[in-house]
Amino acid sequence: MNTIPAGDLKSEESSYQDWDRGGLPGWTYHNEELTELEKEVLFRRHWQVACHVSDIPESGDYVTFDIVGERAVLMRGKDGQIRAFHNLCRHRGSRVLCESKGNCKRAIVCPFHGWSYGLDGALLGAASPETLPKLDSIEHGLKPIEFEVWMGFVFVRFLPGDQPPVAELLARHAEEIAHYRSETMVPAGSNYWSHDMDVNWKSVRDVDNEGYHVRMAHPELQELYGGNYSDEPLINGSCRSYAEFTDTPGKIWSVQKYKKILPKVAHLPEGNQRAWLYIGIYPNMVLSFYPCTVSFYQEHPISAGRTHQRGAIYRHADESRGMRLARYLSTRIDNETTDEDTQLIEWSCEAMNSSAFDGIVLSDLEYNVRCYHDAFRRDLPVMNLDQPPALNTVKAVNAQMREI
Ligand code: FES
Ligand SMILES: [Fe+2]
Repeated sequence: MNTIPAGDLKSEESSYQDWDRGGLPGWTYHNEELTELEKEVLFRRHWQVACHVSDIPESGDYVTFDIVGERAVLMRGKDGQIRAFHNLCRHRGSRVLCESKGNCKRAIVCPFHGWSYGLDGALLGAASPETLPKLDSIEHGLKPIEFEVWMGFVFVRFLPGDQPPVAELLARHAEEIAHYRSETMVPAGSNYWSHDMDVNWKSVRDVDNEGYHVRMAHPELQELYGGNYSDEPLINGSCRSYAEFTDTPGKIWSVQKYKKILPKVAHLPEGNQRAWLYIGIYPNMVLSFYPCTVSFYQEHPISAGRTHQRGAIYRHADESRGMRLARYLSTRIDNETTDEDTQLIEWSCEAMNSSAFDGIVLSDLEYNVRCYHDAFRRDLPVMNLDQPPALNTVKAVNAQMREI
């Protein structure tokens, strides 16, 4: 792992000189009022990856996406266009689509009373229309959600926020990412995975935002790229981590085989042929670019102490046998890493409730944890307080602190 990155990569949120190595106060990891504010400010108002264009290639294909009480449908229309709607019937609010992924032949029919909608979201008709007032197909159609496609990934945003369009937000990564041609990749098998964890969502991010623990906690990654891993800090809502493989073959079977059989990718530059690249997107997501796959993952709060994590993997459309084996091995390495991280995340989160917990001491190699914390404190200034505000006042205190 590199130590502090070059000066021109300094985060706007923090300064490397004499930086504060303490983390967020413990109460911010187990306060339900704060979690509700985080849902509003950090999740509904920031771009979230919902799916990839290849998840919905044909007319009527859809993916549903639930996050912090919001429900989205990403649908490919008859005209070939992707649209994003709230998964919320205009009659009484039922989900109109219940599966996580599927296809609607001609219309979306609500499973509650049978109101039907076109693939473009317009209301087609209601059951027993003579018992209802006159309904307008657009006004009573499914409500649209703001969305944007970047490099094949479909982003949604539930409420307006301060972030620029995705293309602008991630512009500094575009040249490098374009080499991966991620928009041409396709789902790898049943490509979505998800699980719930009994932790605060920030504990997931805290572990994921640093590579200091790789040497000790991730033997597979240590053998794959070890000391070559480096994190660049969060700048304007994104960060980059990059690791070239080490020259040593490694002893762990999956790593050894992966290094040996990974084929060359004709369209990738030399520097990306034998390296894993991660783009972090504030506040809760990572896009991963490997020679064999691209993928995304994100976590979001269900409550202060419960977190949902989901992700999906995409492969080359014309995948060779060797590339398929490489994908199997990289997925295996990632699955082992996820299991190892889950344990560390649980232990870190538990610590926040201990009478012995009095803060953390961050290494230079954990600088990006601090960058995220500073960004959280900027967006939710109430997190600057060492102790939680009185019951039922977190929102009001945060609003006051924003005005100062
Ligand atoms: S809630 Fe959808 S038809 Fe009644
Ligand atoms: Fe990890």
